[in-house]
Amino acid sequence: MSDIETLQTELIAGIDSADTLEALEAVRVSALGKQGSVSALLKTMGGMSPEERQTQGPIINGLRESISLALAAKKAELETAELNRRLATERVDMTLPAPDAPRGTIHPVSQVMDELAEIFADMGFAVAEGPEIEDDWHNFTALNIPETHPARAMHDTFYFPDDMARDGQKMVLRTHTSPVQIRTMTSQEPPIRIIAPGRVYRSDSDATHTPMFHQIEGLVIDKGIHLGHLKWTLETFLKAYFEREDVVLRLRPSYFPFTEPSVEVDVGYSVINGKRVIGGAEDWMEVLGSGMVHRKVIEACGLDPDVWQGFAFGTGVDRLAMLKYGMDDLRAFFDGDNRWLQHYGFDALDVPTLSGGVGA
Ligand code: PHE
Repeated sequence: MSDIETLQTELIAGIDSADTLEALEAVRVSALGKQGSVSALLKTMGGMSPEERQTQGPIINGLRESISLALAAKKAELETAELNRRLATERVDMTLPAPDAPRGTIHPVSQVMDELAEIFADMGFAVAEGPEIEDDWHNFTALNIPETHPARAMHDTFYFPDDMARDGQKMVLRTHTSPVQIRTMTSQEPPIRIIAPGRVYRSDSDATHTPMFHQIEGLVIDKGIHLGHLKWTLETFLKAYFEREDVVLRLRPSYFPFTEPSVEVDVGYSVINGKRVIGGAEDWMEVLGSGMVHRKVIEACGLDPDVWQGFAFGTGVDRLAMLKYGMDDLRAFFDGDNRWLQHYGFDALDVPTLSGGVGA
């Protein structure tokens, strides 16, 4: 047997007996690697005479070819065996109960915002948004709160430093969602029906106030809108939200610079087992600020107040959540305490719908 035939027999035997991919790789390196035996033979061809190369060339190349094929075949065989082994051992028993993985909850604020969007969508309101970093004009001036107006002091505003002014406008963290009224009226044609939920900021902190909280604004601009439309809308909304037909509203004259007339809305409640329960007219609690949009606000947005009228309202989302779901400390909303979130949070599948109940 020639040396080449002996080498071939040895290598094929080595390939046959390799029982792991690693062992097979070792055989491959020993034959075809840089220092491998077959590679060494291939290198000798460079120094051969043309005649020698004619006879040896095909033999050496044939050796390389047959070893490559044998390696590939064995590799496929070992890989199939490995896959079958894993398929047999790595089996998941689908009849076992699912492991108790940690599960997050939907924050009550998010849930209530979804409920409100659902309720108002049913009345034809779209959801609008505005920036939380707002300029003085949108947050105050266009809402009929000029520089010297005492209402500015009421808002405990977080102002940005003067050198962060934009277009000569001082920047603030918006103190209410009302600037979205302005952004909506200046960017779309009436008729308008929007709600604007979002974060607002005031420098204030105790059991019922946090420096950041959530409001929802409502705005309707159309022809011939009057206080009756406002009252019906709020009544329909609060009945749907509290899921009770016996929700009673009381409208009190009030003052906001951007509405005229302005009304504060109280809702009737009674105390049952130490908790406030909405319904009836035993006692009253303020839930909303609202009114007819002031002529000056409509004008500031470039609309003719003799043609277009409307109403607006604003209320605290966190407070609405507390009234419906019974939490009593607002600060806990923003503590991120997992026990509170597990208790008051909602399942991701509790999507509020009017038909299924917005109460989740
Ligand atoms: N923006 C007012 C507030 O934050 C609420 C409000 C909104 C009142 C719209 C009237 C109309 O208190």
